[in-house]
Amino acid sequence: MTKPRTDAMIRVDQAGEFGATRIYAGQLAVMGDRAPHAAEIGRMAQQEAVHSARFDALLAQRGVRPTLLQPLWSAAGFALGAATALIGPEAAMACTAAIETEIDRHYTDQLDELGEDDPELGSTIREFRDDEREHLDAALSAGAEQAPGYPLLFHAIRLGCRTAIRLSAKI
Ligand SMILES: [Fe+2]
Ligand SMILES: [Fe+2]
Repeated sequence: MTKPRTDAMIRVDQAGEFGATRIYAGQLAVMGDRAPHAAEIGRMAQQEAVHSARFDALLAQRGVRPTLLQPLWSAAGFALGAATALIGPEAAMACTAAIETEIDRHYTDQLDELGEDDPELGSTIREFRDDEREHLDAALSAGAEQAPGYPLLFHAIRLGCRTAIRLSAKI
């Protein structure tokens, strides 16, 4: 595993975990803390803050350049969170279901690529992937699939997430 490759992994993961905190910030800004599922969203948001801080630290320790798109992800993440929360609590959960489906795949691909290389990065990714899977289950249990236009919403958000991953690895 060459350093440029793991640098790109850390760059995209740091961007993604930061983006996740912004999505939940947007949802909670719209919903307030007494809406249905607000407690669940707050709990996931706290875990995303831990993920984000860990990748911030890894980025700094290893001198990896952050993505130049951070300001864009900050705005886009918040807007996505706010927009889905405005549709309703199930749409907010559909957003989590879509994102976590994509992130599960993304982290699993990274773990396959890392193999036995870079155990520090590997164990971080594995731990976070398990949290993201749990967020996916929580979103489905909270009625994500009952959101209006669920298949369209789910696929559109997945596509956006995939695009953001591709761009953040490079830019
Ligand atoms: Fe996360
Ligand atoms: Fe998550």
